Amino acid sequence: MNAAIDRFFDARFGLFIHWGLYSLLAGEWQGQRMDDIGEWIMSYHKIPIRQYEKLAEQFNPTEFDADAIARLARDAGMRYLVITSKHHEGFALFHSKADAYNVVDATPFGRDVIAELAAACRKYDLKLGLYYSQALDWHERDAGGWDDPAYLPPRRPWGNIWDFPDHTGKNFEAYFSRKVLPQVRELLTHYGDIFLIWFDTPRTITTDQSARLYELVKSLQPDCLVNSRIGNGLGDYESLGDNQMPAIPLRVPSESPITLNDTWGYKSYDHHWKDSRDIIGKLTRLAGKNANLLLNIGPRGDGSVPEESVRILKEVGAWTRANQESIYEVRSSPFDHDFAWGSITRRDRQLYCFLDDSRQSRLTINGLDNQVRQVVSLDEEQTLPFTQQRLCDSTSLTISLSPSDQPYPVYRITLDGPAKCSRKIYMQDENRLLLYPHQAQALLGDQRCELSHQIFGGRYKKAGTASISSAGTLIAWSDPQLTLSWDAWVTQTGSYDVKIQLPVQYNQSPRQVNHRLRLSVTDQDGTKQTHWPHVLESGAARAENPLPLREGLCRFTLKLEACDADKEMTLQQIELVLLH
Ligand code: GLC
Repeated sequence: MNAAIDRFFDARFGLFIHWGLYSLLAGEWQGQRMDDIGEWIMSYHKIPIRQYEKLAEQFNPTEFDADAIARLARDAGMRYLVITSKHHEGFALFHSKADAYNVVDATPFGRDVIAELAAACRKYDLKLGLYYSQALDWHERDAGGWDDPAYLPPRRPWGNIWDFPDHTGKNFEAYFSRKVLPQVRELLTHYGDIFLIWFDTPRTITTDQSARLYELVKSLQPDCLVNSRIGNGLGDYESLGDNQMPAIPLRVPSESPITLNDTWGYKSYDHHWKDSRDIIGKLTRLAGKNANLLLNIGPRGDGSVPEESVRILKEVGAWTRANQESIYEVRSSPFDHDFAWGSITRRDRQLYCFLDDSRQSRLTINGLDNQVRQVVSLDEEQTLPFTQQRLCDSTSLTISLSPSDQPYPVYRITLDGPAKCSRKIYMQDENRLLLYPHQAQALLGDQRCELSHQIFGGRYKKAGTASISSAGTLIAWSDPQLTLSWDAWVTQTGSYDVKIQLPVQYNQSPRQVNHRLRLSVTDQDGTKQTHWPHVLESGAARAENPLPLREGLCRFTLKLEACDADKEMTLQQIELVLLH
């Protein structure tokens, strides 16, 4: 499996393609638009199967060009693609003997989309991945999700409870063995080597069913990777949440699916495009944290790819071509945190630094235990001056930069050996200190305790007790007995502005919580405290007063003096910024 995971990281950047009958609707049903992700339109408008099926009779995407899509991916610097072979709507984009509701048997188009993409991938040396929704299927009475009490915002049910409101005798196993297993077998036997299968929304699937599905994949193609959304803690790598950006390097190989606008399936009126700079930033940050980027396009119902997506991918491609050595065949940062200026990847004795702000004139790394031999800017192949001084039991490296006109300029640092980092917490640059939950010592009363780390689909389970999510967030903190403390080396004496960051969830409006939080710090001068207003919004919240800190070792302690009765405390990080 290690070799397959190595191939996964080497591929680094993938194209996600959400395409299906929903693409024809472009986010609108009978004049009604939806304010949600486009591929959910059948559930959102509770469209009866008999009406929705008629879309198949109209599906004739004459603009679909597998070759052009594969070329677009390759030119963007992507090395794999993942297409929705069957999404929750139940319609298959491949020829299936197991179910006639598919692109060959049910549409005038009659071409096997997966076969065409598989051929194009071979031509352009891309690996082929297939998305398959294994638990939800709105075309099927017996499919899952109907028994899930949680309805997604604002109003889309997981299962088809509009055509099938009577749940008596529903039998997920019957659906699973009649459609899911045979279709997954078809996918893994008809289209050559499959790089990965991307399952989704496991919801009600049992452990036994997830395990049978996993075994089936491995029995047919042992090297095919399976993502964690197969459910029940199985899978070979972790699919992060939709549009999730982890704060810290992840403990397991991961991948983040990211939209280019605010939908996966095409919506004609969603013009909320991310720019290429944003995408490059995400690619580099993820690469530094053990995660690939799977970037989505939603072709139209006629098969054409929205021009804005094409433009953004081309711009990203110009950057990936120029900076190849820093993102392919590299591994994540040796540090367990980002830096204020950006992020890092590594290969052997090299570190690659990606700078957020290309006009910055300096870059600082505290806590590197190696000697630096050389620093080179990748865009000009120019050697840069640097200084490296002792700092506590490690070093402080400062590189002088000349402003660059490209987004995310890359600097290659050559070390005297494989990168080694200090275990101490240092300031991330001259005036900022970030404290993350995963670096904290946890105390329950006065006893040391270990916070557990959730991996592999943890977000589908209720946490129960405080733990660290796969994104590095502390979740489910409600026990006032639990305190977090950090020993950090402060490099500048002065007054520090203190902010707490509560995670904001994609697709959810900011929420208000009512917690009483206090941060105290002990340095050579004694102990000082600050606290936060009782009502906090998700996002960043400033503490009531700044903290004066003395250069040297400081111990910070965060206490939850009272917890909101309904909502547990979640913590992304604490940030201290020098005021003057
Ligand atoms: C969610 C949605 C689904 C989408 C997927 C992409 O699970 O239900 O529509 O395909 O995210 O990550």
